[in-house]
Amino acid sequence: MAKRAPSSRPEAPSPETPQRQATGLARELDWLQAIIQHRFNPATAQDALPPPPPLKAGDGPYAAVCATLGLVAEERLILILALTPQVAPEQLDPFLLRNQATGRPFTEFGGLTGQVHAGFLPTAETALFLLAGRELELRLHHRRLLAPDGRLAASGLIELDLLRQGDEPPLSAALRPGAAWLERLLSGDGTEPRPTPGFPATPVTTALSWEDLVLDPKTLRQIGTIQAWLRHAPRLMKDPALARRLKPGYRCLFHGPPGTGKTLTACLLGKMNGRPVYRVDLSRVVSKWIGETEKNLASLFDQAQHRDWILFFDEAESLFSKRTETRSSNDRSANQQVAYLLQRLEDFPGLAILATNHRSHMDEAFDRRFQSSILFPTPDADARQRLWQDSLRNDFFRLAEDVDLVRLAADHVLTGGAITNVLRHVCLVAAERPEPVVTSADLSRAIREELQKEGRYAA
Ligand SMILES: Nc1ncnc2c1ncn2[C@@H]1O[C@H](COP(=O)(O)OP(=O)(O)OP(=O)(O)O)[C@@H](O)[C@H]1O
Ligand SMILES: [Mg+2]
Repeated sequence: MAKRAPSSRPEAPSPETPQRQATGLARELDWLQAIIQHRFNPATAQDALPPPPPLKAGDGPYAAVCATLGLVAEERLILILALTPQVAPEQLDPFLLRNQATGRPFTEFGGLTGQVHAGFLPTAETALFLLAGRELELRLHHRRLLAPDGRLAASGLIELDLLRQGDEPPLSAALRPGAAWLERLLSGDGTEPRPTPGFPATPVTTALSWEDLVLDPKTLRQIGTIQAWLRHAPRLMKDPALARRLKPGYRCLFHGPPGTGKTLTACLLGKMNGRPVYRVDLSRVVSKWIGETEKNLASLFDQAQHRDWILFFDEAESLFSKRTETRSSNDRSANQQVAYLLQRLEDFPGLAILATNHRSHMDEAFDRRFQSSILFPTPDADARQRLWQDSLRNDFFRLAEDVDLVRLAADHVLTGGAITNVLRHVCLVAAERPEPVVTSADLSRAIREELQKEGRYAA
């Protein structure tokens, strides 16, 4: 029997009010202020730093990023310091204090003054001063947080820019928030890359919700496992023993006839977990292997990794069958690129979904690459009845008395996608009438057209 997805599942968070958006950021700025005062006050300068505020769900994008990445207190301090010139520059005014003995700024504060910006611009030295004061041991220890291969710089959260090359010490590098993260930290937006002609993926979304998805219990159970992975993987991977045994990332295959909800389910997984979903049409990518393709794919994987995107690869069979044919040197080069793509897929630490209508065209040797392989079957009569009920519920048209949805569902084997097409058709029929009503004959006609389109004919 078909089941509706349970309604108790969490939905994507609703758009937040500006106040809620800024709560986490405001708290973090207060914390930075407390630390600056702590360091400037000779009575407290040598004590342990005040602890960071708690990260609460729903406190806006800044708190969400810190929580998702599991940033430790020291990393959070560096990040908020990098961001402060953008959001509360006056908070760094204490650093403009001059040393009366030398008539110059205090060397240990580090920092720069901008050409137009009148306030203080922090450098790596400033971060180290806040983290460690004058304690040499601690300074040496915390330097690794500011290294180019440290987590903050490597993920692009911060940028360290040594303005003048040459003999300047590396800690005099300007500390800035990473351009790729800035919008996401401040407003939660900016997760989409600037579209460039070569970028091989497009974001996909759905206006539908989890309750609209009608799937058989087995498919639903398997989708539940992916959900569990999305929710718990970061925690599992923190356990060193598990992290050694389990490969990061989750790859699964969605297979089944057209219109059975594969793309919809991928979109809903993203929506429910607040993750963007990017769709790559593999048939296009594989048929057009040209110089730039590999570079563009590399950029896709890099961005997806840092921004928690779900990758959805459509027409997956084109990838897994291509590798076996080698006729020309062109084929060989294509095979090399396919091998590259497979390797990146295997190493991808996030969720990658591959979809196909042609399971049988795929080499079985590739099965082991997937953590799960999920069939999206043509819906049975019960599922079709639910799909009809949901699809035809609206305030635009009225259903005539002669419409029998149980009968309709029993008589015609249609997928969710086909039922949506029928809906579009009868909407237009109703719209042309003085009173928008849809009759049983209208539905039969629209169904017949839909079946003819698919090369099938109504009984
Ligand atoms: N299982 C389902 N539950 C609810 N609605 C569905 C379902 N399957 C399809 N639909 C409806 O049909 C539309 C098209 O489905 P979708 O694009 O997800 O199919 P697909 O399996 O990805 O097809 P294809 O293999 O052609 O890409 C959906 O947006 C939705 O409106
Ligand atoms: Mg699809």
